Amino acid sequence: MILALLNQKGGVGKTTLAVHIAAALALKGRSVLLVDADPQGSALDWAATRQADPLFSVVGLPKNNLHKEIPAHAAKYEHVIIDGPPRVNELARAAILASDMILIPVQPSPYDVWAAKDIVDLLREAAVFKENQICRFVINRKIVNTAIGRDVVDALGSYNIPVLSSSIAQRVAFAESAGEGGTVVETDPAGQAADEINELVDEILSIATHEDSHEQKSELRRQTV
Ligand SMILES: Nc1ncnc2c1ncn2[C@@H]1O[C@H](COP(=O)(O)OP(=O)(O)OP(=O)(O)O)[C@@H](O)[C@H]1O
Ligand SMILES: [Mg+2]
Repeated sequence: MILALLNQKGGVGKTTLAVHIAAALALKGRSVLLVDADPQGSALDWAATRQADPLFSVVGLPKNNLHKEIPAHAAKYEHVIIDGPPRVNELARAAILASDMILIPVQPSPYDVWAAKDIVDLLREAAVFKENQICRFVINRKIVNTAIGRDVVDALGSYNIPVLSSSIAQRVAFAESAGEGGTVVETDPAGQAADEINELVDEILSIATHEDSHEQKSELRRQTV
């Protein structure tokens, strides 16, 4: 599976979720490559800060032709997770072309709902090349015990891209663990933040597997016709 975290809006949690999804998959015993497609190099900075043994490989690939380079990398790993850049449309477009699945992190705020239009437009443009691509919103930094998460889910409905049922709450543990090049799934594996990440990863894997079997079925159907 090649999964990209994309949203041209800055600071929505692309890097945080990319690193945590990669870590959770690695802890499940999967081989993972994290591709930093952001010229800011935040995922590379995270990896450089890390004292502990690496859980997964990280490469920097902030290039407009990254979709041409990724297949060679992808052949060596079970999962490739792409951390997308803010603003730069060309890099986001290349990441869309490279991926089987796109996750769009959004914070529970109307500003994030409006700003999501940019990535949705890019996805629509690319849809002709990527017929079987799976796209989902994921709510990040949800404030526990508020209704705003629900409102945002409703507002996102107008984009016709489903919202994952798992979401990630606002928790200081995310920033704290990042400061040490770590992740919440390592620092507090039984904590709520880790639970939410594991739930998110399970949902991603179940969607990816389900779609795969769909594709295989339609492939079989084509062969038998
Ligand atoms: N669920 C969360 N709880 C608390 N803090 C969070 C959460 N998700 C992200 N953050 C914090 O929000 C800030 C922005 O997150 P992050 O860098 O992951 O966003 P980004 O989309 O990658 O930003 P950019 O667009 O600049 O690449 C960081 O300081 C991060 O630690
Ligand atoms: Mg980032």
